[in-house]
Amino acid sequence: MLKNIVVLCITIVSAKGAVQPYNDSHWRRRWFPHSPGDVDANQIVTDNRDLHDAHHGIAMGIVDSSCDDGKINLTIDWNNSPDNYTCLENKTLYLPKFDTASSYSQEHIPQEYSAPHKCMNESIEYEEVLPTFGTHRPLWAVYGEYTFLPRQRWLHNLEHGAVALLYHPCANLNKVNLLKRIVKNCLYRHVITPYNLLTPQRPIALVTWGHRLEMSNVDPKEVLKFIKLHALNGPEKTHRDGQYDLMLKEKAQIVSDSDDTNVCPGFSGDFQMK
Ligand SMILES: *[C@@H]1O[C@H](CO)[C@@H](O)[C@H](O)[C@H]1NC(C)=O
Ligand SMILES: *[C@@H]1O[C@H](CO)[C@@H](O)[C@H](O)[C@H]1NC(C)=O
Ligand SMILES: *[C@@H]1O[C@H](CO)[C@@H](O)[C@H](O)[C@H]1NC(C)=O
Ligand SMILES: *[C@@H]1O[C@H](CO)[C@@H](O)[C@H](O)[C@H]1NC(C)=O
Ligand SMILES: *[C@@H]1O[C@H](CO)[C@@H](O)[C@H](O)[C@H]1NC(C)=O
Repeated sequence: MLKNIVVLCITIVSAKGAVQPYNDSHWRRRWFPHSPGDVDANQIVTDNRDLHDAHHGIAMGIVDSSCDDGKINLTIDWNNSPDNYTCLENKTLYLPKFDTASSYSQEHIPQEYSAPHKCMNESIEYEEVLPTFGTHRPLWAVYGEYTFLPRQRWLHNLEHGAVALLYHPCANLNKVNLLKRIVKNCLYRHVITPYNLLTPQRPIALVTWGHRLEMSNVDPKEVLKFIKLHALNGPEKTHRDGQYDLMLKEKAQIVSDSDDTNVCPGFSGDFQMK
C-alpha cells in the first residue's frame, strides 16, 4: 500500500540554504491518505478505550497483544540479524570524505497528512531508503540508544518531535561518537541506531519529521543548526516516552527538562560544550 505514497515534494537545498514554506492550497498532485476536502470513507468514531482512532486508524501508545505490544511478531519489521548492526564491509569506504558536503533535504508533508498506524499482522514498506514520515507502528520507541531499532518504530518518534541519529555500522567511530555526544546533550527526545542502508558516501544521518541531513563528516555547527531548526517539529508533539524497548542500550537522559524547552542548552554558537 505504501508503494502508492507519492513523494509529496522534495526540496533539496544546501544545508545552509533557506527553504520556501510550501502552501498546501497549491498542491495539485495526489494526496495521501486523502485531500483535506474529501470525506474520509474510513472515518472511525470511537471512545478512548477503543484501539482505533479517527486519525491513524489504530490508536497510538496502547499496549495490546492483539495489535502491538512491542513483543509479538517483531520479526516482521526486523529479523534480528546482527548484519544490521555489524560492519561487514571495508571500513575504508566509509571514511569521512572532506570534499563531500552534507546533503540536507526536506519532504513537504501537507498539514492534513496523518500517518496511519498498522498492527503487527501487516508489514510496512517504505519507498525511500531514509523515510522522514509515513505509516508506522502504534507503539513508539523508548527514547535512547539502541543496538538496533527498526524504522517502523523510530518514524513514530519523529512524529512526536524526536531527532533520530542513524549511522552505518562501518561509519567512522570517532565521527559517530561525536554526533552521539551532541545529540544526547541537545535533547531528551532522541533515538540512536545503526542503519546499514546508508551509503558509503554519507554513512551518517540525522532525521526529523520531514527533514534529513546526510553526512560524510560531522560538522558540529551544521548539526546544531539542524537540530535547533528541525527538532520538536513533529505534528504530534509529546514528550511521553515510548513503550518499545527491544535492544535498548541506554535510556535517554533529560537535558533541559522533559519538554526539551531549551534545545542544545550546553552549546554556544561556536560549539563549545559547557
Ligand atoms: C495559500 O494560497 C492561497 C491561494 O493562492 C491563499 O489564499 C492563501 O492565503 C495562502 N496561504 C498561505 C499561508 O500563504
Ligand atoms: C538489514 O540488512 C539487510 C541486508 O543489508 C537489508 O536488506 C535489510 O533491509 C536490513 N533490515 C533493516 C530492518 O534495516
Ligand atoms: C579496503 O579498501 C582500501 C581502499 O580501497 C584498500 O586499500 C584496502 O586494502 C582494503 N582492505 C581490505 C581489508 O580489503
Ligand atoms: C502475528 O502474525 C501471525 C502470522 O502472520 C498473525 O496471524 C497474527 O495475527 C499476528 N499477531 C499480531 C498481534 O499481529
Ligand atoms: C490486523 O489486526 C488489526 C487489529 O486486530 C485488524 O484491524 C486488521 O484488519 C488486521 N489486518 C489484517 C490484514 O488481518
